[in-house]
Amino acid sequence: MPAVGGIGPGGGKEYPGNLTPFVTVTCIVAAMGGLIFGYDIGISGGVTSMDPFLKKFFMSVYRKKHNDKTTNEYCQYDSQTLTMFTSSLYLAALLSSLVASTITRRFGRKLSMLFGGLLFLIGALINGFAQAIWMLIVGRILLGFGIGFANQSVPLYLSEMAPYKYRGALNIGFQLSITVGILVANVLNYFFAKIKGGWGWRLSLGGAMVPALIITIGSLVLPDTPNSMIERGEHEKARQQLRKVRGVEDIDEEFNDLIAASEESKKVEHPWRNLLQRKYRPHLTMAIMIPFFQQFTGINVIMFYAPVLFGSIGFKDDSALMSAVITGVVNVAATVVSIYGVDKWGRRALFLEGGAQMIICQAVVAAAIGAKFGIDGNPGDLPKWYAIVVVMFICIYVAGFAWSWGPLGWLVPSEIFPLEIRSAAQSINVSVNMLFTFFVAQIFLTMLCHMKFGLFIFFGFFVVIMTIFIYFFLPETKGIPIEEMGKVWKAHPYWSKFVENDDYGHGVELNKGAVKNV
Ligand code: BGC
Repeated sequence: MPAVGGIGPGGGKEYPGNLTPFVTVTCIVAAMGGLIFGYDIGISGGVTSMDPFLKKFFMSVYRKKHNDKTTNEYCQYDSQTLTMFTSSLYLAALLSSLVASTITRRFGRKLSMLFGGLLFLIGALINGFAQAIWMLIVGRILLGFGIGFANQSVPLYLSEMAPYKYRGALNIGFQLSITVGILVANVLNYFFAKIKGGWGWRLSLGGAMVPALIITIGSLVLPDTPNSMIERGEHEKARQQLRKVRGVEDIDEEFNDLIAASEESKKVEHPWRNLLQRKYRPHLTMAIMIPFFQQFTGINVIMFYAPVLFGSIGFKDDSALMSAVITGVVNVAATVVSIYGVDKWGRRALFLEGGAQMIICQAVVAAAIGAKFGIDGNPGDLPKWYAIVVVMFICIYVAGFAWSWGPLGWLVPSEIFPLEIRSAAQSINVSVNMLFTFFVAQIFLTMLCHMKFGLFIFFGFFVVIMTIFIYFFLPETKGIPIEEMGKVWKAHPYWSKFVENDDYGHGVELNKGAVKNV
């Protein structure tokens, strides 16, 4: 049976190029674009559980939190207003990633990064000084705009800059920054919440200016990608740049393929409509399904609401926040594992292993919570060891996500689109991601209240489906140059039906002999 995984090593071209200090530093700086996204994910949940913040802006939520003597732990925090505050940002990000598509394509990846940084900076400023709820909302919308721009451009930038053999590792720098951003935010919330006078939330929200400055300044000093220069007709500059980036003189073959990709892309007048063509069916499917599935792992239930969730399973205030810090550390550490392994073991191996790990943990957590909290959500006295076991399995689940769907949800889409649809397809990836982040953030607390421990089974079910999906439909992309990616679809048992031999050509030949057998 032909492997669903696709092309074996040696099936394609081998462009010369090294992991030069120049490309390494460039990619590290660019990857910091993930910090703004991560910081926001980590900061919002903590701030919305700070009493002074609630008293100032969400009095009704504050009253409910303190007067409600319900014993039903599942429903304690169910408030639409509060979740709307958290999730409104994702709608803004969804919209701006669509606008970013044109800017990234016409004016280069760097300009989108710059916009991302600046918008986020202004948003952070307004939020830090907020006096009224409208300021909070305007601030959050600007933060969202910033994230849309950054998430659209940074992963593309990284995948284009990186030598193909190290593309996975360098691209995952973006996810590493996301996880570091989340962790730093969790730790800061922990300390700022203790500030006497109750203005710690201003520091938490205003602190977003720091990662915003990093990406703003970064985007000004970073070089443009050769692909993007060619896309804008600057061929000679691009050739010099490619030499510098790869650290070798002999870049002709890669350069010519980039030019060919760019010629192909110029024929395209309507990048959006273009996406609907049959030959782009595999790409469109991935641009929609990968972000959808990434969010339906349920990860953001943990990221946004860990303190609330841990509070619900019996940890008191401080230890609930502390547990959020613990999951944050696991998230960062496991991402490092994927940086190490992604170009060695491949994307599929990580996806499949991570998926299996998450399914097991979700089943255990559902059973453990179900057994103690039952249907009425009243656990009685919960032994400490019980809560610790639950937190342990949640950590193993987070680790599974952090070396599979977390980084790969950004890496794989950024490396599979041919240049002519790259920017538009990446915008679809970001907007679908944001839409379902919004969806999960908005409905989680209500779902917890109604579905109870079944919530973990709900997400577990999706992880089963997505793991099967990867097994059958995602070809391996490890070690394939980005402008050569067409061949993985042509060699795939299912997707080859959609692709003709000369589709997204750029000199790509169908190499049937390269299809591995399992
Ligand atoms: C996801 C976020 C998530 C984060 C957790 C990212 O890849 O897009 O939604 O919160 O990983 O580390």
